[in-house]
Amino acid sequence: MASTEFDLTKVQEGQQIVIKWRGKPVFIRSRTGAEIKAAQDTPLADLKDPQTDADRVKAGKEQWLILVGSCTHLGCVPTFGAGDYGGWFCPCHGSHYDTSGRIRKGPAPLNLVVPEYDFLTDTRVKIG
Ligand code: FES
Repeated sequence: MASTEFDLTKVQEGQQIVIKWRGKPVFIRSRTGAEIKAAQDTPLADLKDPQTDADRVKAGKEQWLILVGSCTHLGCVPTFGAGDYGGWFCPCHGSHYDTSGRIRKGPAPLNLVVPEYDFLTDTRVKIG
């Protein structure tokens, strides 16, 4: 199905914008330096679904985190800027995701999904 393009200049540092892609919300988050460092410094042993932050972003574009906004428990939309790990909180049954969108606490089994995407330019991404 169709891909979609997005202009990243619309998102300020520390902010998130939600777009629709294939009928689902997609989070486009511009992370702060502190959020990136927290994500990179987390030991894999602390993670339920171990993935490095580098596995979830593009090299040289660590500021940008792009996620399918659907909780991996039962599909609710997690809330931005909430929870114990500075990322997202799913209000349905209490799953906490970190600044890399990785599951840290609660019933969700897996990290928030990173969709397929590419940078067309420094400020433009194509999702899908
Ligand atoms: Fe998110 Fe259950 S759907 S915790």
